Amino acid sequence: MQLRDLGVGELTRLLNMTREHDLGGPSDALRGRVVANLFLEDSTRTRLSFTAAAERLGARVLDLVAGASSMNKGESLADTARTVEAMGVDALVVRARQACAPHEVARQVQCAVINAGDGRHEHPTQGLLDTYTLARAAGRDQRAWDLSGLTVGIVGDIAASRVARSAIAAMGALGARLICIGPAPMAPRSLESLGCAVTHDLDAVAGDLDAVMMLRIQFERHGEGRAAPIASVREYRELYALTPERAGRLKAGAIVMHPGPMNRGVEIDAEVADGARSRIIDQVRAGVVARMATLRWSLSA
Ligand code: NCD
Repeated sequence: MQLRDLGVGELTRLLNMTREHDLGGPSDALRGRVVANLFLEDSTRTRLSFTAAAERLGARVLDLVAGASSMNKGESLADTARTVEAMGVDALVVRARQACAPHEVARQVQCAVINAGDGRHEHPTQGLLDTYTLARAAGRDQRAWDLSGLTVGIVGDIAASRVARSAIAAMGALGARLICIGPAPMAPRSLESLGCAVTHDLDAVAGDLDAVMMLRIQFERHGEGRAAPIASVREYRELYALTPERAGRLKAGAIVMHPGPMNRGVEIDAEVADGARSRIIDQVRAGVVARMATLRWSLSA
């Protein structure tokens, strides 16, 4: 699944299912089912969150640990996926470094395949939990989940961010206005093709934002041979870090989000991450219920 192709109907269905679980809805829908995590890239919250979600629904969870699997012996992702499926798995949760790897896997197996983040492309369950968190905070978590009139700033390394692409797809589909904010190599004009505005000046738009999503600088996704997107962390902080002073210039009532992992003292300061506007821990909680919804949706359970 990728949020870009989902459509508002399915998106609101997933949001309603997320809320149902948030309010303590049915919890043994996946009893007897097996969910396998196939994570070929580092992860803390996404993998644990899928595990917690599957277990809360009564499923059993198998975990393939990337550094310790036969993919290190040259086995392809497709062969690994077919092998794991043959062990009696109902859903594969796939995270990979290459864009569209989960879609490739889905062509090779019969079971459900869930994208847990593919390269710089999409991170659909993160987009779902971010949209849910925003809608809840803004009191839009009913009926149509209409986000019109809300302006969301996504700040930082957007070019390398699958989190940003999924947020733009989902929040944009529900009517939010999105502004990508960062230095030109991280927030290129080409992002306008996704339906959002682009600016390099955070201070100029801070007062318009109802929510701000801070992103980590994804050094590991920049790749060798490419020019570094920023001159120095100090220069970056000067213009884009969410310091208490800058957070004070956001709209009254504006919320602060971050998908994690955070680099405190780089893109966000500790006082803001732990401050009254922060919804960062809410995002983690929403992650579990959003993944319960996604697992049920994918398995028609
Ligand atoms: C993000 C990811 O992996 O894309 N983390 C997450 O899943 N919450 C963001 C990141 O790596 O910075």
